[in-house]
Amino acid sequence: METQMKKIKNILFKVIVLSFLYTLIYTSLQSEELKIYSERQPLLIEPLLEEFEKDTGIKVEWIYSKKGLVQKIILEKNRPVADIFLSSDISRLIDITEADASIKMQPLSMVPENLQSDYWAGLTQRARIIYVNKELEVKNINYEDLASEDYKGKICVRSGFHPYNISLFASLMAHHSEEWLESYLISLKANLARKPQGNDRDQVKAIYAGVCDYSIGNHYYFFKMQDNDDQKMWLEKATIVFPNQDNRGTHVNISGIAILNENNRALAEKLVNFLSGLKAQSIYANDNNEFPVSPDVPYSDRVQSLAGNVKFDSLDLEELASNRRAVINILNKINFDG
Ligand SMILES: [Fe+2]
Repeated sequence: METQMKKIKNILFKVIVLSFLYTLIYTSLQSEELKIYSERQPLLIEPLLEEFEKDTGIKVEWIYSKKGLVQKIILEKNRPVADIFLSSDISRLIDITEADASIKMQPLSMVPENLQSDYWAGLTQRARIIYVNKELEVKNINYEDLASEDYKGKICVRSGFHPYNISLFASLMAHHSEEWLESYLISLKANLARKPQGNDRDQVKAIYAGVCDYSIGNHYYFFKMQDNDDQKMWLEKATIVFPNQDNRGTHVNISGIAILNENNRALAEKLVNFLSGLKAQSIYANDNNEFPVSPDVPYSDRVQSLAGNVKFDSLDLEELASNRRAVINILNKINFDG
């Protein structure tokens, strides 16, 4: 009887030790790997993540999709599949934060305060600028000007509901008021050469085709069009102006990062620190000609030559984000795209 008991004890002991070892190995394996959902294109993300893997030995797996990741993250929020979300716009970061799908993170010393919150951080800045018919020789322009009578039938723009435009309009609301924005958007709509359509680059094509003289678009598309054999001719007719240089500066949006999985927080924070650090920031600056968030990292040569001294609007992105719903309501109310 006693030997029987001894045997059972022995087996139990082995089972406990084995399961302990299994858990230890499993968690250590698990914790050395990060899963990412990325809206940022593979071409841009790959070199960054390769550097991170080399520096840290942490393996990174990632899924890229231009659409649908926010919905996926919100659906999975109680059992996150991904540890990290890389977004290409502030509004997606706010969407997941409002849905309680991102977790608190450490403040980042390299990122200016207006470009981070407790739940997300900016990694690059993208300016929303104005593309202008070269022949007009426009040097200075304010976003506000686009609502004036002088611009009747001269402006092209993509859907007002695109996150890039919503952010711009939300910044205008922050600097003026909700009532002001409504009348601004009514006038802007009345000045459009055609119904909102296409993407930012299609508007520059429209300037080339003589459909309009002005369009609103992100700055890095200028370089993307320069590098594209089918598109570079559009720039024969169009140049770029960084708006509001004589006052508050040009509106900037961010691409950014949020942490989704509490269980893998330590590794996730390592990636956040890496991507906001010097090495990654200069890869960002050079690969996509965006503005680094870190003030210590120089612009790419191409950005430097075009926008070396550009002044940016320092509006807090959280304030901007809080206006988004009101902006969407106005766009619906006045049927901006219709
Ligand atoms: Fe873009």
